[in-house]
Amino acid sequence: MRPLIHIKNPMTQDELKKQVARSAIEYIKNVPVIGVGTGSTVNFFIEMLADYTSSIDAAISSSIDTTRRLESVGIKVLDLNEVNNVEVYIDGADEVDPKKKLIKGGGGALTREKIIAGASDKFVCIVDSSKTVDVLGGFPLPIEVIPMSRKFVAGEMKKMGGQSVWRENFISDNGCEIIDIHNLYIRDPMEMERVINNIPGVVTVGLFALRDADVVLIGDGDKVITR
Ligand code: 5RP
Repeated sequence: MRPLIHIKNPMTQDELKKQVARSAIEYIKNVPVIGVGTGSTVNFFIEMLADYTSSIDAAISSSIDTTRRLESVGIKVLDLNEVNNVEVYIDGADEVDPKKKLIKGGGGALTREKIIAGASDKFVCIVDSSKTVDVLGGFPLPIEVIPMSRKFVAGEMKKMGGQSVWRENFISDNGCEIIDIHNLYIRDPMEMERVINNIPGVVTVGLFALRDADVVLIGDGDKVITR
């Protein structure tokens, strides 16, 4: 008799994003003011929020796109200056290391994302399993810059071994430009974040290491892994 072979039906990346987005709902139940990030994973989460509008007073949004999506499901968006506290912030990431340090900004919303992460009591990061790495840097590190500093910042990054690529035809919600830094192998994310923060012209670096995630949820197919 031939042995029975269990063939695993792999989930698509979008299905994994939906799976992890669904698991984040537990973190916002009975939370009046939530922070909401930007990106395709968070977009699934926003769609699911449509069932929880009665328990959410308002959201703090990390981008113009997220604001539009939140309002379209019936959630009021407030400015961060209008609230006293953001209990929970839900956002995705481009890379996550074992210590919950992140690279973010693939979608270009890194500055507002970093502000809300910093202002929140709990940062819950939601990713599919393709985003987990041992060492950050495989994903090009986004840096939002004041436009006149772009070449200068690129030169400073070259001294650290990084190759800068200008995200042409892209202007952030803050009217700034973004360069993406390739070839970095980020052994000490906190130190690198401090160093890049100090380069004149840098608005925000997409390293979330000094304020990292409190919880990382990873959509893995069989289950959602919590770090
Ligand atoms: C946007 C971000 C996103 O969280 C990051 O790019 C992940 O996006 P996605 O969920 O689409 O993979 O930092 O600035």
